[in-house]
Amino acid sequence: MRRMTQAAYAKINLTLDVLGLRGDGYHNLESVMQTVSLSDRLVITMEDQPGIRLKCETKGVPEDETNLAWKAGETFLHHARLTKKGLAIEIEKHIPVFAGIGGGSSDAAATLRCINNMSNAGFTTQELMEIGAGVGSDVPFCVQGGTALVRGRGERVNPIWALPDCWIVLCKPRFNIATPELYRKLDQSPPQRHPDTRAMLEALQSGDLLEVAKNLHNVFEDVLPQEQWEEVIAIRRLMVGEGALGSCMSGSGPTVFGLFDREDLAWKTVKGLRQFYSAVFLTQPV
Ligand code: C5P
Repeated sequence: MRRMTQAAYAKINLTLDVLGLRGDGYHNLESVMQTVSLSDRLVITMEDQPGIRLKCETKGVPEDETNLAWKAGETFLHHARLTKKGLAIEIEKHIPVFAGIGGGSSDAAATLRCINNMSNAGFTTQELMEIGAGVGSDVPFCVQGGTALVRGRGERVNPIWALPDCWIVLCKPRFNIATPELYRKLDQSPPQRHPDTRAMLEALQSGDLLEVAKNLHNVFEDVLPQEQWEEVIAIRRLMVGEGALGSCMSGSGPTVFGLFDREDLAWKTVKGLRQFYSAVFLTQPV
């Protein structure tokens, strides 16, 4: 029996562009992604009898094969031909679920890294990312972490210049998002305005946080139902009103993030938002 503990970090999308529907039903994406310091904690035990068990005390987190960490464990054991081994996965959840900040994908990536270490399977990071791509579109990025330009279905991950030091406030509105529905809406009415990914890359290369903040853009915002769009915009305005350099929705939502160059303003914003929302976090790039 071997046991290992690992942090699983949330992510935000500094830009998110959906380029079009593919033959396999997925969409080609172009996104600049960033890991942030909000994290779940996973304890993984490798056992000598087959089977997977998953425990998570947070309500709403599946404890069966629909959990991406379970799926990651199963996929890994299959790829490594370790079908006689089993896993016990314990997840201490801090990242809100169904929030657009990669909680499930990050748990899956942490599971892959852990088992790779414990089993001595010796997969390279690139191979782990390929295994992760079969688990979920955001998993390859979560295996890599840091700052990256992500393309294809999510499997083409190119590390890029790190986001300059800053404070990142996350706020999850109360409503939930139906991701496939938002993709369908984008198919029906393709985005009028696309992120300027090149400008974002240049801003990162020159370490210019203000330019990064000016170029935050997510095409999913434009296809939110009216009421949800209004709430996202209200949070964005509040963040900018409190001193954020820029603000945007992450992934297919609904979490909104704001970039700050001053910790005191970021904290003040967190306190203000906590009067209305329960899921508000102060984070930093990882
Ligand atoms: O891969 P993942 O399980 O995260 O995808 C969830 C849903 O998001 C898919 O069923 C699909 O509808 C949509 N999706 C997509 N194109 C991508 C990623 C996700 O259409 N590149």
